[in-house]
Amino acid sequence: LANARDIRDRVANDFRFLKGWMTQPRSVGSIKPTSEQAARLMVSLIPAGSDLPVLELGPGTGAITKAILAAGVSPERLVCIEYNAGFLSHLKKSFKGVTFLQGNAFDLKSALANHPHQKFAAVLSGLPLLNFPMAARTKLVEDAIGLMEQGGPYVQLCYGPKAPVPAKAGGFSATPTKWVLGNIPPARFWVYRAECGQA
Ligand SMILES: C[S@@+](CC[C@H](N)C(=O)[O-])C[C@H]1O[C@@H](n2cnc3c(N)ncnc32)[C@H](O)[C@@H]1O
Repeated sequence: LANARDIRDRVANDFRFLKGWMTQPRSVGSIKPTSEQAARLMVSLIPAGSDLPVLELGPGTGAITKAILAAGVSPERLVCIEYNAGFLSHLKKSFKGVTFLQGNAFDLKSALANHPHQKFAAVLSGLPLLNFPMAARTKLVEDAIGLMEQGGPYVQLCYGPKAPVPAKAGGFSATPTKWVLGNIPPARFWVYRAECGQA
């Protein structure tokens, strides 16, 4: 029965996601939610042993949210910023105890203005970064790194062959993970960290 429920939920989420993509293709950026395999790889990059909250950008239908919680992060430790009101109302019903903020992830300062936590263990982003100008992408990486304790990663989902934001000497490093070929489309993650002396 649990299996049948899982399949039903996945099909409903695929449909919800596709509908989101059809109405807002640029900001949704993909026709299918991130696969479980890819979400697990992303979540494995959250530093163990930190009590600080985790910030997720662009949770969509919650594929990565689900994996973060399954990895043992308590709902109270998870904060998500999503733009799309339709996704938000579904997320709030599905993930009790998680903080969902409606806002623009490219303006983290405003999105987090009324939130008590201003430091995070990691920032995980499913935003379709390649659909946005390079200046906005770079500012986002810099702002996210500024929200973290020394060494905390900003992890970015990416479908393209190149880094969505190149490393910046004296600012931050950019390291790719392996590709997850089973994801549709194939994806990997770019891990950004402050270089020594930054953040
Ligand atoms: C490629 S989907 C990823 C969804 C989900 N994280 C996943 O991996 O299946 C991108 C998500 O980012 C959201 N998004 C796009 N631009 C945004 C912005 N400026 N601020 C917050 N969320 C945004 C979209 O609404 C969508 O939910």
